[in-house]
Amino acid sequence: MASPSAPSGEPRVYLSRQRIAERIAELGREIERDHAPDPDRPLVLLGVLKGSFIFLADLSRAIDRPLRVEFLGVQSYGNETKSSGAVQITLDVSTPVDGSDVIIVEDIVDTGLTAHFLMQQLAARRARSVRLCSLLHKPAGTQREVHIDYLGFTIENKFVVGYGLDWAQKYRNLPDICVIES
Ligand code: IMP
Ligand code: MG
Repeated sequence: MASPSAPSGEPRVYLSRQRIAERIAELGREIERDHAPDPDRPLVLLGVLKGSFIFLADLSRAIDRPLRVEFLGVQSYGNETKSSGAVQITLDVSTPVDGSDVIIVEDIVDTGLTAHFLMQQLAARRARSVRLCSLLHKPAGTQREVHIDYLGFTIENKFVVGYGLDWAQKYRNLPDICVIES
């Protein structure tokens, strides 16, 4: 959705740090169930920068499996209110992911355009499997349907910040997920 042009009010807690922590513990169990320890099938958590950095830090510690952490930087083109769907990789992984079971870790799926692009990219790179984990999903914004294998919360059509998510690069360090009134 469109980001608020200038937030005026104070951030209001929408999902508390406690709820987030509980849900991440459950996501860790789900991921463990799907990934038996296997030295021939390396597990890679692939965080999408910047929004996923806090989620990935907590999620990785909720998964009791050997795993590798990689990051991808992406930039999507368009103006403030409308994503064009053109996505470019601005920072690439440090070690190739071919042959690995990859879980893409996103902060939020809104239009679905970024996630769709990344799923295609990873399949082309011959990952053994590619799954998508997103802390949040805003179904009202959907332009491209993507299957989210591991989902934290479905949220209303509101612009949220905190726990890694930003408005104009601000608010990422709020410990809770908040709504800013515009
Ligand atoms: P997409 O629209 O699904 O391609 O999502 C692209 C990116 O937009 C997400 O990874 C977020 O970084 C950002 N985004 C979408 N909705 C919000 C929001 O409510 N708050 C902060 N960032 C958002
Ligand atoms: Mg993002």
